[in-house]
Amino acid sequence: MRTLTLNNGVEMPLIGYGVFQIAPNECEQHVLDAIRAGYRSIDTAQAYYNEEGVGNAVRRSGVPREQLFLTTKVWISNAGDERAARSIDESLRKLQTDYIDLLLIHQPFGDYYGTYRAMERAYKAGKVRAIGLSNFYDARFIDLAENMEVKPAVVQLETHVFCQQVKMRELVKPYGTHLMAWGPLAQGANGFFINETLRAIGAKYGKDNAQVALKFLTDEGIIAIPKTTHKERMASNLALDDFELTDEERNAIRRLDGGKPLAADFNDPALAKFLLDYDRQFNPDKR
Ligand SMILES: NC(=O)c1ccc[n+]([C@@H]2O[C@H](COP(=O)([O-])OP(=O)(O)OC[C@H]3O[C@@H](n4cnc5c(N)ncnc54)[C@H](OP(=O)(O)O)[C@@H]3O)[C@@H](O)[C@H]2O)c1
Repeated sequence: MRTLTLNNGVEMPLIGYGVFQIAPNECEQHVLDAIRAGYRSIDTAQAYYNEEGVGNAVRRSGVPREQLFLTTKVWISNAGDERAARSIDESLRKLQTDYIDLLLIHQPFGDYYGTYRAMERAYKAGKVRAIGLSNFYDARFIDLAENMEVKPAVVQLETHVFCQQVKMRELVKPYGTHLMAWGPLAQGANGFFINETLRAIGAKYGKDNAQVALKFLTDEGIIAIPKTTHKERMASNLALDDFELTDEERNAIRRLDGGKPLAADFNDPALAKFLLDYDRQFNPDKR
């Protein structure tokens, strides 16, 4: 399992297993399958409603906790100092663990400064081994990274061959922040699984489009967390160590970059409004 070292010295696997859109009652079995397939890093979130399933699978797997790396995220409904502090304890309880390996702010909306302060306290208290951000772009990322004492270890952004986050990778470098790719298979969009460039490269090595793309991302030092509910895909998405891409192949993949996210633009005011309205449904006191 290839790993990288975060800006605070914590070691993190380059490939993990994502559980977005995995139903709470199915999550435990899929995560157990993933751990048995060799995954040691799991990416969940409060908003996926499946942290318990992840916790159950970890417990049932028999793999020592310290050999696993658990990421979860604080949702906007829990934004703010006190709410976030409470929600971190709730995540610990649901995950059935004494510590979270990586805790992220899920969305850059609401009182995320308060959330980050609560995360810094949890970090200093040993409840969390590393903290970071998700979906924070450009000036929002800089503002928070400059102002807060604990620099984000990770920024999780939509990242795949069609959106390679070249600008953000440069922007986060001074803080030692690593890019973590959500949707590393582009969620299948834009013809990802039948893309001809990836297919032609993969044909040479007996690899499929997912494997070529994941190899490319991880070779670039990007952490990737592909999601699948199929055991054979869990295994194949991990089987990246028996081939090497040439410089020419890497350059061909770089040319697929369209420079823009396909799934969610976090600078879009309509998305901000949608998420904040959605949050108000759960938090009547914020109306
Ligand atoms: N921070 C955020 O805001 C955010 C947003 C989205 C996602 N995430 C995280 O990132 C993780 C991954 O992103 P994602 O789940 O959105 O998308 P993804 O991993 O890019 O793509 C998942 C899709 O690809 C299919 N798939 C997986 N491996 C395959 C293979 N080898 N061959 C063919 N199809 C394959 C899956 O179908 P099957 O399951 O049927 O195989 C699923 O439909 C999530 O699970 C979550 O943990 C974070």
